Amino acid sequence: MTEKVKLTIADKTYELKVVEGSEGEKAIDITNLRQLTGLITLDPGFANTGSCVSAITFMDGERGILRYRGIPIEQLAEYSSFRETVYLLINGKLPTRSQLNRMSMLLNDHSLVHEDMRNFFESFPRGSHPMGILSSMVTALRSFYPELQATAEEINITVTRLLSKVRTLAAMSYKISRGHKVVYPRPDLSYCANFLNMMFDSPVRPYRIDEDIVKALNTYWILHADHEQNCSTSAVRVVGSGRVNLYAAISAGIAALWGPLHGGANQAVIEMLEDLQHNGGTVERIIARAKDKNDPFRLMGFGHRVYKTYDPRAKIMKAMCDKILDKLKTHDPLLDLAKNLEAAALDDDYFVEKNLYPNVDFYSGIVLRAIGIPTNMFPVMFAIGRLPGWIAQWKESVDDPMWKLNRPRQIYVGPNETHYRPMDER
Ligand code: ACO
Repeated sequence: MTEKVKLTIADKTYELKVVEGSEGEKAIDITNLRQLTGLITLDPGFANTGSCVSAITFMDGERGILRYRGIPIEQLAEYSSFRETVYLLINGKLPTRSQLNRMSMLLNDHSLVHEDMRNFFESFPRGSHPMGILSSMVTALRSFYPELQATAEEINITVTRLLSKVRTLAAMSYKISRGHKVVYPRPDLSYCANFLNMMFDSPVRPYRIDEDIVKALNTYWILHADHEQNCSTSAVRVVGSGRVNLYAAISAGIAALWGPLHGGANQAVIEMLEDLQHNGGTVERIIARAKDKNDPFRLMGFGHRVYKTYDPRAKIMKAMCDKILDKLKTHDPLLDLAKNLEAAALDDDYFVEKNLYPNVDFYSGIVLRAIGIPTNMFPVMFAIGRLPGWIAQWKESVDDPMWKLNRPRQIYVGPNETHYRPMDER
């Protein structure tokens, strides 16, 4: 029997259906609430609102669980590749060998970008943030590659094109920003190795592919590949609900990810640690600032809207950080600072009481630094990783038989009707 809840308003009682997910999560279905009662709900930040039903990612913030299509993130990080995880998220199941081979072939076929797109790159002012460039370039893809969406195969081509070209565009933007020669993708390299090669190969210093670094990048991107209805994914769904083209919806996701409270946090963590290192601050001082209600400063890389215990991705990232620095025989003083800061915060009542733990971005910046990625490219790295999640969520939303244009309501608190006054009377 369908579970129901009763809502009493004045002397009337209404019955509302309860929807239950496959992991036992429950929600009150308020689809007809306004029609039945004349009332709407108010939920700033949507902390209590489920915007959709979804079969892609499950996370449990209390138990520190994250699974893509049912598979725990720990297993994917250990055994899968980013390419395979992309397939899993977008198509709902792990690929067979021939499906994966076909995907690689398509990724290779679509990896080049139109040479005219270089003109765009060259028109951006020096010092432009790569996230702004990436977001603009992704929208521009629509003009160079009109999207094909009539059949499943056509959608597949558009999706593959996006996955492959975003990686090329990101590496190109880095090379052009440094005034270096653009490196083209190579058919013999895997998705991650190709990206690293496009970023770091040079005519005077050929890039040597190191399998441990390739594995680290695979892991980094797998950990970021989806995270259910976060800020940027919701942006993709909301913008996509207007039935815009896929490129425009993804560009909106990139713009949303840019913010320091979301995908910009990895850059913000490193800037915070560098500031601490160079300006003679102390761990105690940073902790005190983060706790001070009169100071807008927050401990970057700490806290999460959903995780109220350790972020499972942060555990994997921390281990990866130690492994990569050990392998590269590098000592990064920022890692020591990060560890001291983490220990101090986890020992402080403020952070304990508010359930503030390190999130994935607390250690990811140190891994990216070790790989050689410049700090302002960190959010771009996150965007490449999150792309399959955005695509899977967009696909799910446009295929949803319950699809609706997203259009929330509001409670108006402005002035009541007032009359226009001519300029001389104001
Ligand atoms: N440092 C200090 N205090 C914090 C922090 C932090 N990093 N995060 C939350 N708090 C405090 C808030 O001040 C608030 O205190 P109050 O109840 O006394 O007012 C309380 O904890 C709850 O914070 P909210 O902002 O209401 O929690 P919310 O769930 O909205 O925030 C967020 C989550 C935005 C991630 C927040 O923890 C934050 O700003 N963290 C730092 C930025 C960051 O690392 N972002 C990356 C998130 S992961 C990702 O997007 C990949």
